[in-house]
Amino acid sequence: MYRQIFALLFMAAITLQAGAKEVPLLGNIMARQTTSLNGPWHYIIDVQEEGYYDYRMNPTQWGFFRNAKPQRPEDLVEYDFDKAATMQIPGDWNTQDDRLFFYEGTVWFMKRFQHNKQEGHRTILYFGAVNYEAIVYVNTQKVCTHIGGFTPFNIDVTDQLRDGENVVIVKVDNKRKAEAVPTQIFDWWNYGGITRDVLLVDVPQTYIENYKLSLDKAEPKAKKRTIQFDANIDKAEAGVELTLSIPELKINQTLTTDAEGKVSTTLSVPAKNLTLWTPENPKLYQVELKLGNETLADQIGLRTIETRGKQILLNGKQIFLRGISIHEEKPNGGGRANSTADAHTLLSWAQELGCNFVRLAHYPHNEYAVREAERMGILVWSEIPCYWTIAWTNPGTFTNAQRQLTDMIRRDQNRANVIIWSIANETPHSNERDQFLSRLAQHARSLDTTRLISMAMEVTGASNYKNRLRDNMHQYVDVVSFNQYIGWYRDVNDAPKMEWEIPYDKPVIVSEFGGGAKYGLHGPENQRWTEEFQAKLYRENVAMLDKIEGLSGTTPWILKDFRSPRRVLDGIQDYYNRKGVCSDKGEHKMAFDVLKQWYETKK
Ligand code: GCU
Repeated sequence: MYRQIFALLFMAAITLQAGAKEVPLLGNIMARQTTSLNGPWHYIIDVQEEGYYDYRMNPTQWGFFRNAKPQRPEDLVEYDFDKAATMQIPGDWNTQDDRLFFYEGTVWFMKRFQHNKQEGHRTILYFGAVNYEAIVYVNTQKVCTHIGGFTPFNIDVTDQLRDGENVVIVKVDNKRKAEAVPTQIFDWWNYGGITRDVLLVDVPQTYIENYKLSLDKAEPKAKKRTIQFDANIDKAEAGVELTLSIPELKINQTLTTDAEGKVSTTLSVPAKNLTLWTPENPKLYQVELKLGNETLADQIGLRTIETRGKQILLNGKQIFLRGISIHEEKPNGGGRANSTADAHTLLSWAQELGCNFVRLAHYPHNEYAVREAERMGILVWSEIPCYWTIAWTNPGTFTNAQRQLTDMIRRDQNRANVIIWSIANETPHSNERDQFLSRLAQHARSLDTTRLISMAMEVTGASNYKNRLRDNMHQYVDVVSFNQYIGWYRDVNDAPKMEWEIPYDKPVIVSEFGGGAKYGLHGPENQRWTEEFQAKLYRENVAMLDKIEGLSGTTPWILKDFRSPRRVLDGIQDYYNRKGVCSDKGEHKMAFDVLKQWYETKK
């Protein structure tokens, strides 16, 4: 009898605790009522995942997530977070503990924090990114498992939190896997850990989940312009009032949700009242959304991006994208970048080059970087890490890639400077790859029709100096982009002889070209790794690019040297990919000026 009652009570308790759930991404996290959990977190390196599995490799209920303490002198507890070292979060573990520089495996993180529960409020735990797999526990209760190292996720933990002290524990595992996205090989450092902000978000019982504001395309001389506004609250509930105001445009509209909890409207404004977002004048409008006593403020630019034949049109006018590729690595020599200051420095180097465009490779960068680029007037190519040999036939891999694509778009769909969603980089041709990627392209369009879709293809087939681009994916993208390494990986001296055949009536972006040089190493132009070699390569490549019909832009590889475990040449690479036009500390190599001078001719 008592056993049944106990079992029922235990199940009830579990069910109650099961209230935690991952909820759809909150848009505009920066405008929300948040408490930061950034700062020192205790951490335990757990090479064999002793804190998760028992000695028969079964998940144990006595794992580190219980944050156990000995109750009696004879009790055995073989870990203690409070005695463990701390590291700064957000931050990768590789550059905060020498023991973890090359480490790929599990590290446990723990943070104690105070919380005051408020009647009628809900609390959502938000992670800007955790690389690569996170299992999150709040007060010993598992609340979420998340896979994907570069996109945010958030969990309603209202029921798990208590008044006073709380403990969040995260198991982070950055092991590379064949079925992961990216797969087990990639040319960048596998920075592990809680690499972006951790926030507690206070929301009312019913809150604005996400929204999208965009300008419809129109004829250049149109007298009226139409703004599209869509928003949704967190539940399928009709009759909830939501107010949109854009004071500068004299817009103040109250909308009522439909049965799905959505609002959708079009707003007409006189074209003469509108200042469109451009790199030269990155105009942002103050936008305010209200729902009950919840107010969300945002700064949103209005612009259109489209293609016409081989041209890319920004606000109806052709634009040449003077770009550069960037990895998300701090400008002062390594570690994951994760702040406005990091972004401002890297983007300032790009502007010094004469860039109006950056390719944030090969994964979604942190939101500070996208917003800082928007403020600085720099257009963005944003990309998910479907990189090289993805497991195209694995359903879980597709779900993972699609989820990362969804979250990348949902997070940045109001950023005027983001003009291209990229779904892949240098993926080998196959029917399975085409099916996988065409479904991703279709999914991106289902979420956002106001941006262009692209991917970095590979040039296949070259004979007697004729380079032909052939890729079935051309029919699924708006912009045909490809990487080529003439002068580095092939045809070291033949760039001047090269011809290009790109048989698609779409704009072309050369999404990578370049070569390596060790900063400060000088010698004859034919000596690889000298700055002179790299500068000659750039001179010959930009002259060759000028011969490509329909070239609408390029993002040379890469702004600065970056860490990679694949680059092991002692004294030259030392685990850095040296293709930067800057050193890893931002020192200009000779090629920097070659590219800068060429961009002067593209303005
Ligand atoms: C590839 C790849 C990059 C890589 C580069 C290189 O094109 O896209 O991620 O770093 O080549 O070889 O340096």
